[in-house]
This record gives sequence, structure tokens and C-alpha cells, in this order.
Amino acid sequence: STVLVLNGPNLGRLGSREPEVYGDGSLADLEVLLRASAPEGVEIDLRQTDDEAELVHWLHEAVDTGRPVILNPAAFTHYSYALRDAAALVTKAGLLLIEVHISNPHSREEFRHTSVISGVATGVVAGFGFDSYGLALDYVTRAD
Ligand code: DQA
Repeated sequence: STVLVLNGPNLGRLGSREPEVYGDGSLADLEVLLRASAPEGVEIDLRQTDDEAELVHWLHEAVDTGRPVILNPAAFTHYSYALRDAAALVTKAGLLLIEVHISNPHSREEFRHTSVISGVATGVVAGFGFDSYGLALDYVTRAD
């Protein structure tokens, strides 16, 4: 089976972007980590885009292919109703969609305290660095 690991805007800059908040690992490092921790037979399809429409299309693809999703919506978390509606399509189709964040948005600026995605996600993991993805993957591979 394949797990989609989808990443929103600016996450392509991981490693150099605010390392005090997001750590110094790159997205490529994250991919290596997840592949290493994925059980036998579980493929990791990790992608990143700065484009809201592309992210929406990838969620449609998840529905069409029946794949579970680990989603870091990045700043779209806080305001994208288009992404929320697309995420709802995934969970309403009976597929897992885990919202993840590297940082803990609740301990940061006020505007990060709201997630328009959480209400339609299966669950949320936040504040554990790259381990947020690992914890989500562990759940997905056991529950799926
Ligand atoms: C983030 C938190 C968001 O508030 C922020 O816009 C990001 C990354 C995280 O992984 O901690 O880009 O989703």
C-alpha cells in the first residue's frame, strides 16, 4: 500500500527556514526517515507544493486511488476552506487523513491557533518535529 505525505507552502525550504522552529532537517531528510520507519510493503509518496490548487488535486487523487493521507497544510491550515473541503472528501470517503505540524501552532502566534482542517481530519499530531509525521505514519500503518 501507499501513504501520501503531502506538504504545503514553504515546507520545501525546511532545513534553512527558521531552524529554531522547524529544525535543521530538509524535506529530503524527512523522506529518508519515513521510508526507513515504514513497515515492509508500505510505500511513502512524499510531495510538496506551494500551490493551493495542486494540494486540492492531490487530495482528490487520494479519494480516487483510495490512499490514506498525512497532510501538513502549512499556512493553508489557518485559512484555506478549499483545502478543508478537499480534506473532508477524503475522510468522508472513509480514508484516513492525519493533519500534522512540525511545530506546536498553539504555542505560537494567535493566527496559528485556528485550524480550518482539524474539524474534518481523522486526527492531529503537532509539536514533535519530524516525529509528528512518524507518529502519524505509525497510526496509519496500524489502522489502515
Ligand atoms: C506548520 C505550522 C504552520 O503554522 C506554518 O504556517 C507552517 C508549518 C508546522 O509544520 O509547524 O508552514 O504547519
